[in-house]
This record gives sequence, structure tokens and C-alpha cells, in this order.
Amino acid sequence: MMRSHYSGDVTAAAIDSEITVCGWVHRRRDHGGVIFVDLRDRSGLIQVVFDPDEPGTFAEAEKLRSEYVIQVTGRVRARPEGTVNRNLASGEIEVYTTALTVLNASETPPLQLDDTENVGDAARLRYRYVELRKPRMQRHMQLRAQVTRAVRNALDELGFLDIETPILTRATPEGARDYLVPSRTQPGHFFALPQSPQLFKQLLMVSGMDRYYQIARCFRDEDLRADRQPEFTQIDIEASFVDADDIMAINETMIRSLFADVLDVKLPDPFPRMTYEEAMRRFGSDKPDLRIDLELVDIADLVADADFKVFSGPANSDTGRVAVMRVPGGASLTRKQIDGYTEFVSRYGAKGLAYVKVNDTSAGREGLASPILKFLSDEAVEGIMTRSGAADGDLLFFGADTETVVNDALGALRVRLGHDLGRVEGDWAPLWVIDWPMFEYDPEAKRWNALHHPFTAPAVDDADALRNDPKHALSQAYDMVLNGTEIGGGSVRIHTPSMQQAAFDVLGISREDAEEKFGFLLEALKFGAPPHAGIAFGLDRLVMLMAGADSIREVIAFPKTQTATDLLTGAPGLADNAQLRELGIRLRATGKSEASDGQ
Ligand code: AMO
Ligand code: AMP
Repeated sequence: MMRSHYSGDVTAAAIDSEITVCGWVHRRRDHGGVIFVDLRDRSGLIQVVFDPDEPGTFAEAEKLRSEYVIQVTGRVRARPEGTVNRNLASGEIEVYTTALTVLNASETPPLQLDDTENVGDAARLRYRYVELRKPRMQRHMQLRAQVTRAVRNALDELGFLDIETPILTRATPEGARDYLVPSRTQPGHFFALPQSPQLFKQLLMVSGMDRYYQIARCFRDEDLRADRQPEFTQIDIEASFVDADDIMAINETMIRSLFADVLDVKLPDPFPRMTYEEAMRRFGSDKPDLRIDLELVDIADLVADADFKVFSGPANSDTGRVAVMRVPGGASLTRKQIDGYTEFVSRYGAKGLAYVKVNDTSAGREGLASPILKFLSDEAVEGIMTRSGAADGDLLFFGADTETVVNDALGALRVRLGHDLGRVEGDWAPLWVIDWPMFEYDPEAKRWNALHHPFTAPAVDDADALRNDPKHALSQAYDMVLNGTEIGGGSVRIHTPSMQQAAFDVLGISREDAEEKFGFLLEALKFGAPPHAGIAFGLDRLVMLMAGADSIREVIAFPKTQTATDLLTGAPGLADNAQLRELGIRLRATGKSEASDGQ
């Protein structure tokens, strides 16, 4: 071993002993003939001192630069009075160096490691190995490892088996595009990388494995955001002879023990549950952040007859919604701030953001200020005031459009206002969202899509009812939401061929297509498939929340950019002609020539 101690572990208890530490030169300071170096390793910093009385080491120390890799042997001594650093575990001591070895030099690092730098994302991803040296990133990686260990321990105790499933496989429909891998042995054929291990974990239940888990890499070619990466990790779970309540209970226990072990946080027992319908109605979101107390209230019935098309149109439409959101104390928002929020909701498709300032409720209409008041009857105004619970000093925001636009716009505005106005109460708000619809209609494609995935069991075990009324069918799906982020989702699965066929029928998957894509599953369901259910957590999102980070990139060692490229290795790269020939692939011209190709 090249070292006797990690830097961060050396405390006053080691005073007078000789130690050897290894690491990077974090900072070098020259002080009146004495050189101080903060040596950094995974555990933290330690101060090492080079004294001119040790001529060999001192001359070497003068050559040290940032990020040189060094080995230092010396005697631990107390720091002089007044120089103790309470922020460091090793802040009471320093090392009086007797031997220094430069293990490797470093060019001037492309990034500063003290977080004050102003380097763009591109440089930080290109030199990710330097970025990862930052104490913050070291903490994130250590936290992630603690989380996976705690998860493995918890699931192990609950009798779950860790089983690996293939990466080179067939498409699994989770709603994104597939990453394809060409086959050399069967030219023209492609593997798909798994969007999740969904089908394999169901097959493992048919195999009698009873309780499965896997910390599984998933691949989805979809639009990327702060909480989405093209490859990410799931804590994937499946169990047999269980119902939805059992799965929710098991996973609450796991998440609670995880937060207790790793963060010393006590989450509620049990987690609250809310139906999808209630979540959308009250919060305009299927993943409401319950730390924020703002709510949407429906008022379509009050404005259906108003001489104001903006409200009466959606109020009289089957797919429309008119809702108000009361913002306590919001009357003090300036015109400029309201314009800013109007711009914000327009990103979600809202065509405007009507508002009413509530100055004095006792003064009737006179006490209100709003550009839309003149369009509303006294009854409508009174109804809105009562139903929203408006009080002096409040602001009412309105959304009127299709249900989707109103929910997206006011749902997002609710979260934004919650943060802007300091209305986020408490640290952790877990929630189960249950009773999801089975399907949602895509008016453009004119077909039904699965809201969870096509293997989710309906609430009512009746295949004909499912075919006849897909619109009102509820599923046995559940999502775990934490602070407004969906951290996990799962369902009870269909376990009979007839019900699986009914679901495919509603989704417009033809018999031939079903046979070609999922024939192996339909077949397996015929050979003794037990009732089973499961869930998958987004490990990256979970760790992001636990770390207090604002992007999953912060908790993934080597993440990709918004355009799904890896700036460090330069992936994806080109393939050479010999490789392509072997795979039976000829590249088409791209860009302009391709467009003219298609004409
Ligand atoms: P689902 O598609 O909801 O379900 O995924 C489960 C969880 O994985 C996380 N997640 C992601 N995290 C980062 N980047 C992404 N691109 C990304 N996509 C999803 C989310 C999500 O809650 N097979 C089902 C699970 C099941 O039914 O058991 C599935 O994959 O946190
Ligand atoms: P207009 O009649 O378009 O000038 O709109 C009058 C007010 O209604 C303005 O404050 C707009 O911001 C608001 N508004 C317009 N369209 C909508 C909508 N779809 N939802 C909510 N408010 C809207």
C-alpha cells in the first residue's frame, strides 16, 4: 500500500505519529519561507507543510503545481493556535513533511476545482475526470454507492434475488425510441437495447423466481431534460402472488429504510395516496409536489354563459377545462411579474393568463382589479370568489383551454410560484399516485396509447369491458412521487393470454404484430404464469433528490449532453467501411440529398 491513511481520516488522535498520504495538490501557498499544500484525496483535504529545514523535500515542493499527484510522508502535529480549520475533519492537524515523491505531474487543469469557476458545461463534460475530483461530485458518487448498497441490503432481506437480463434484446415498449444494434451474423437484423427489463422480469415470474430485482441499465432514445438521460439506471423489481398493496408496502419499506440509513430522514408511514383524477384536478399534474399548498379549482359551470369566449369556449367543450388558482398574498405581484408568468405559461401552450387582484373583498366588484372582470356576471364573480376562497391581498390566476393545456400550464405555474413566493413547506413529500386510466387517446394518430405500458392489468378483470370502454378503464398502476418528481412507477401485470390480447386490441396492435413482437410473452402466459406485479425506480432521480442536485447529470459519473453525445470519448463515432460491410450496412446520404431522395 502506498499510503497509511486517507487524508480526511487523520485527526488529532494521530498527533506525533508518522503517516503517509497520497493524493492531488489542491492548493499550494508559500508563506514566508514555508510551503503549505492542501493535499486532496477521496476523503477530503489535509494540510502538509514543507519546511526549509528539510532541504530535500523543500526544493521539490517548490516545483509542485495544481493537480500534481504526490506521496507525502511526515509527522502529524497540531496546527498552531489560530490556524485550526473547523470545516475540515483534519483541520486541527497538519503534516510536517520528511519525504515527498512526485508520482505524476499535471498540466494546468482545464477546470478550477473550487467551484468558483465559470467554465461552460462542454469543458466540464469533456474533462469529466477532472470535474469528478470536485468534493461535490465525490460526495454524489459516494452517496450513489451508499444508496445502491442500502437498496441491495433491504431487498436481500425481503427475499429478492438479483438476476441479470440481456442488454442485446428485442424492443420493449416504454414509449421511447429504441437504440438499435446491427447483427453481424444475421445481416439486416437488429437487436434493440432494453428500454427496461419489463418483459424479462415478467418471464422470470413465469419461471418461478418469485421475487426478482436488478439494478438495471435502461436505454431510451427520447428528448432529454434535466431528469432524463438516454441511458439511465432503474432499481427494477417484480414479485409473484402479490397485489398492488403488497408491492406498495414492500417498496415504501425499502424507500423509508433507505432514507433512514443514508440521510437519517424519517419519511411518513404510510405514504399518502391520491388518485390520478384527484391529482390532475387539484394540482394539474400526475406528480404533484405536495410541499406547495397552491391548488386549482374548477369554475367551468360558473362561466359557461359568460360573454367571454376565452372562458365560455373551453367551459362548453368536452375536452376543455376552466380553472382558477388562488395565490395568497399575490396581489402585490407587479405587472411586470405577471407578464413574466404569462410568458412562462405560454411555453405550455397557454394563450394567456387572466388574473384578478383581490384588494378588498368587502367592496364587491370595486374591490377587485382585473382586465377580465367586465366580461363576468355578478354571479360568476361571486361564485369564483367563494369557491377559490379568495381573501384580501390575494391574486387569482385563470386557465381556460383544453384540459391538457390548462393542467400543464397551471400545474407548472403552481410549482414555479411555490418556489418564487417561498411557499415550499417541509423537506420531503412522498406520495403514491394510484388509479391511473389504462389508456389515453391520441387525437392526431387517432388511437389509444397505454398510459403505463401494454402489460398493465386493468382494475376490472373483464376483457370485454376493456375492449368496449377503453376510455373509462382504470388500471392497477401506481407511481411513487417525491417532491414533484416521479421516482418510480409500476403495476399489477396482466397474466392471462386473453386479457393481454384484449389490451393489444385496444392499442391497435394487430394479431400479426403482437405475434411478431410479443409472441414469446403471449406464449409464456399460456404455460403457467402466476399473478405478478412490480415497479421500477429511477435510481438517478432518487439519488439526485437525495443529493439536493438539480439534474441527474450531477449523480451520473459519465453523462451525455442534451444531444445524447459523450463529449469525453466523442461517442457516437463513425464506423469504418470494413465494419459496415461486415454488418451489411450501406449508409444513405444525409441532410439535403436525403430530402431530395425522398421526392
Ligand atoms: P417507467 O417507464 O415509468 O416504467 O420507468 C420507471 C422509472 O425510471 C425513471 N426513468 C428515467 N430516468 C432517467 N432518464 C430517463 N430517460 C428515464 N425514464 C424513466 C423514472 C421512472 O419513474 N418497466 C416499467 C416499470 C414497471 O412497470 O415495473 C418502466 O420502465 O424515475
Ligand atoms: P384577450 O381577450 O385575449 O385580450 O384576453 C383577456 C385576458 O384573458 C388577458 O389577461 C389574457 O392574458 C387572458 N387570457 C387569454 N386567453 C386565455 C386563456 N386561454 N386562459 C387564461 N387566460 C387567458
